[in-house]
Amino acid sequence: MKEEKASRTAEIVTAFRAAESLKPAGERVCYDPMAKDFLSSRLSLIGRSEFIRKTALWYADRKSPGITGLVVLRTRYIDEYLTTCMEDGIDQLVIMGAGYDSRPYRFEGLKNKVVFEVDYPATQGKKIKKVKRICGSLPGHVVYVPIDFERETLEERLFENGYDRNMKTLFIWEGVTTYITAEAVDNTLFFVANNSGAGSTIIFSYVFQSVVDGTSGMEGAEKWRKALEKRGEPPVFGIESSKINEFLLSRGFCNVKDASMESLKKVYFTGRNQNRKASPWAGIVYAAIDPGQSV
Ligand SMILES: C[S@@+](CC[C@H](N)C(=O)[O-])C[C@H]1O[C@@H](n2cnc3c(N)ncnc32)[C@H](O)[C@@H]1O
Repeated sequence: MKEEKASRTAEIVTAFRAAESLKPAGERVCYDPMAKDFLSSRLSLIGRSEFIRKTALWYADRKSPGITGLVVLRTRYIDEYLTTCMEDGIDQLVIMGAGYDSRPYRFEGLKNKVVFEVDYPATQGKKIKKVKRICGSLPGHVVYVPIDFERETLEERLFENGYDRNMKTLFIWEGVTTYITAEAVDNTLFFVANNSGAGSTIIFSYVFQSVVDGTSGMEGAEKWRKALEKRGEPPVFGIESSKINEFLLSRGFCNVKDASMESLKKVYFTGRNQNRKASPWAGIVYAAIDPGQSV
């Protein structure tokens, strides 16, 4: 992250969700009708006409093949996971690196729970202004927790903001691990594994290590890496999908379920989306906190 600057990448993924959500019901893969309200004036042009929306998506996928597919798939998958967790019963939700995630405002069932939005201070400051404009005021069920994962731990910031370590909690970490160091990833997972109530779970996306170090050779990977570097948000952390199970087991988690882009495409890219691309160099994983293991 560029010091003191709000994440540009957070706006770009929001624009992909906004564009997807403007498509007719039978065509869209994810539905985040609030995404367009979070866009800055230039990006909000995608809402002006179908031509601008299609051109913008075409251009994004030309620069980084499959990137819009990847983003809409992971949002859909996490939305469904959140819905399942809410049906099973959760007490708290923690969204880490929240960006312009609109789930606290668009999921009615979250409005009687506590939602912690944890994010880099500059990004969160910008979001708070937008939420005030969109909702009229800040909703009472959302607690905003500014943090720099590189300099602070969740332990320092969440407890002082009312987080209850005995409650059943879902942690969402969408599109964030890529941008922080392995040490910050470890510190965060350590907190989650050791400070959440029975039945708590985490879901997060990640990119492969070979993409981060430029050796993957997979379609679009190098273009994507270079684009992020240019934007001042270079990819830092990656892990191969073959290692994610062991990685999480050794950090106090159990029941690890990893999903590849290929497997998500089969489920969600049907009908008009059948031939759509999704960058293959990323995964989404969820896991439960192992009650028998304190690390
Ligand atoms: C690609 S955006 C994803 C935003 C959101 N989760 C989504 O999917 O729309 C990456 C997010 O990670 C956050 N982030 C990056 N580095 C961070 C750091 N060192 N500490 C806290 N948050 C960070 C950014 O502020 C941004 O919100």
